[in-house]
Amino acid sequence: MHAQLAAHSQMSSTFDLSINGRPVRVSADAQATLLDVLRNELGLRAARFGCGLEQCGACMVLVDAEPVYACTRLVSTLAGKEVVTIEGLAEDGSLEPLRQAFLAEQAGQCGFCLSGILVSAKALLDRNPAPSRAEIAAALDQNLCRCGAHNRIIRAVQRAASTKRGVPA
Ligand code: FES
Ligand code: FES
Repeated sequence: MHAQLAAHSQMSSTFDLSINGRPVRVSADAQATLLDVLRNELGLRAARFGCGLEQCGACMVLVDAEPVYACTRLVSTLAGKEVVTIEGLAEDGSLEPLRQAFLAEQAGQCGFCLSGILVSAKALLDRNPAPSRAEIAAALDQNLCRCGAHNRIIRAVQRAASTKRGVPA
């Protein structure tokens, strides 16, 4: 079933997207970003607007299982692509090992960066179940944490990887 959303300008076009496994039809300006549509049209506000310039990673979501910056990705480029947000990962349960590990390590202060970081970490663990510390740091290189919680964040990703492999953290 499609969610039909109202047009917001005379220049709007209609885009058929797949968001968190569901088909969604949106009306948006051709220059609208994925982050605009997620937050302002679809009410999916976990991905954050930080810089708008591909510099902080607060807006990260998965497109065809790869982390992308939603702040600059145009919604017009997403036909036939699978978009997954942190809400979708929470809904299907696949975020749970990371969520538990971040809680256990108290990895984060304000939390502004965490949606993007969890998206990047999830993509990493899906392609590499046993990453080294250096591999985790490299995978999170596009995600900034202004609170400086990086060491705890890396420990949390290591813990989640161990948990998923059934190895004591
Ligand atoms: S808001 Fe997208 S990278 Fe900063
Ligand atoms: S926990 Fe505050 S920006 Fe990362």
